[in-house]
Amino acid sequence: MEHLDLERGNLQAMASVSVGSSVARRLEGKVALITGGASGIGECTAKLFVRHGARVVVADIQDEKGHSLCATLGPDVASYVHCDVTNEADVKSAVDTAVSLHGKLDIMFNNAGVVLGLDHGFLNGEHSASLFERTMAVNVLGVYLGTKHAARVMAPARSGSIVTTASSVSALGGMGYAFYVCSKYAVVGLMRSAAAELGKFGVRANCVSPHLLATPMTSAAFQMTEEEVERLSEAGANLKGVTTKPEDIAEAVLYLGSDESRYVSGHNLFVDGGFTVTKSMQ
Ligand SMILES: NC(=O)c1ccc[n+]([C@@H]2O[C@H](COP(=O)([O-])OP(=O)(O)OC[C@H]3O[C@@H](n4cnc5c(N)ncnc54)[C@H](O)[C@@H]3O)[C@@H](O)[C@H]2O)c1
Repeated sequence: MEHLDLERGNLQAMASVSVGSSVARRLEGKVALITGGASGIGECTAKLFVRHGARVVVADIQDEKGHSLCATLGPDVASYVHCDVTNEADVKSAVDTAVSLHGKLDIMFNNAGVVLGLDHGFLNGEHSASLFERTMAVNVLGVYLGTKHAARVMAPARSGSIVTTASSVSALGGMGYAFYVCSKYAVVGLMRSAAAELGKFGVRANCVSPHLLATPMTSAAFQMTEEEVERLSEAGANLKGVTTKPEDIAEAVLYLGSDESRYVSGHNLFVDGGFTVTKSMQ
């Protein structure tokens, strides 16, 4: 009897998740700030978050793209702020904008990133020091500042989810791209430190780690069309028959941002079709 009640309860819970063919809004009432939100994975996540009932603040340096995305999503649910994540005043102001517009910040998505100096190794690269510094400024300092200012408002609220985009390279050393690899290892360390320090305030921190997928960043870095990047990704993939898209990453961020992951913290979620299982250095 108890078993039947339990099963009925489960079925009711499932029914509330899926109503007919429409999907439940898993972020109803939540407020999210998305850095690097004007393009690629960030843009896709902003769209998915809004579909799930969140209000989003898109923070980027591509003002035209950011404004146009927010106009499409709707001014009541999406706002754009110019924010260079390497500039603390900008990051502080982006967090404060989210709070002043919506009264709180539930989800911080530290997603802005760059890939620079792909052809610079240890034996070549005249300008390698400045490219290294720029990579670390955007990919690491930017994540530190985003986490710091999100924590400033989340800790007193005793709740919040901080998600950072790392990469499959955070488990691999042999991919070349020393600066980028270094930066993505570093953000996993930042995320784990944040999970440890902020847990007592009810704030979670996690990473999402995509493998190679077609976005403006990878097209520019490899000087390929998005289709060519997809073919490159498929050729090296462990999991065959799936072409990975920004939507795959956005779905993982949705999970980490939502209450469905309420006991998940300090985790690096690989969305890589098992690539790092077959190529792991760990
Ligand atoms: N595309 C991939 O294959 C892949 C794989 C693993 C990880 N990633 C990571 O995913 C994240 C998103 O990348 P994407 O592929 O969507 O690329 P993208 O270029 O489409 O998006 C990155 C966004 O970050 C913004 N940005 C760059 N510098 C900034 C700064 N200083 N301040 C604020 N915003 C800034 C850009 O304007 C852009 O809108 C990055 O952190 C990247 O390292 C991407």
